[in-house]
Amino acid sequence: MATANAAQAKTAAAKAAPEVQVSAPSRREFLYYIWGASMVMLLGQVTAGIIWFAFPRFKEGEFGGVFQFNPEDLPEQNVGPFTVASGRFHISNVDKGLLALYMVCTHLGCIPKWIDTNHRFECPCHGSKFELDGKYIEGPAPRSLDRFVMTVTYSDGTQVTTNDAGDPIALDPDKSIVDIQIDTGTRILGPSA
Ligand code: FES
Repeated sequence: MATANAAQAKTAAAKAAPEVQVSAPSRREFLYYIWGASMVMLLGQVTAGIIWFAFPRFKEGEFGGVFQFNPEDLPEQNVGPFTVASGRFHISNVDKGLLALYMVCTHLGCIPKWIDTNHRFECPCHGSKFELDGKYIEGPAPRSLDRFVMTVTYSDGTQVTTNDAGDPIALDPDKSIVDIQIDTGTRILGPSA
């Protein structure tokens, strides 16, 4: 009796359950899905690209970005450089004006040191030497020290920026400097040795 009831219940359940048919996607549907996924990926890449270019990659005050240099820290003319280690540059004040020199040797990337007694930069690795304005003196380095673009702002609002050749910025003795900015993201190669 119990077995008959169970069989009846099974039959009733089978009648009540709707029939579900699962069919494989057609070739057209499959291609459509692939196309949709590709469009989503492409859109993601375009959005990431826009975000990447919209925001600066380097923050102010970080190497690769713009550094604010206090004019009160300017070294006296033809005395040793003022070094900003975090920006990897030296500020040199020479007869012809101001320079922001990249502190990395143009040979194989060591860090030349300013040697006061010899009044020049000397590289500890292979002995290249450079003058206070970064000019090559001797050694295996292929060129003078590289320089960064600098902008000097005077109290009257006028500004002078390093030219394409990376020459020193000649200072106007009749004006006072209120701001100096060094763009460590814009490097000008030093002249060939
Ligand atoms: S890395 Fe400076 S001389 Fe070689």
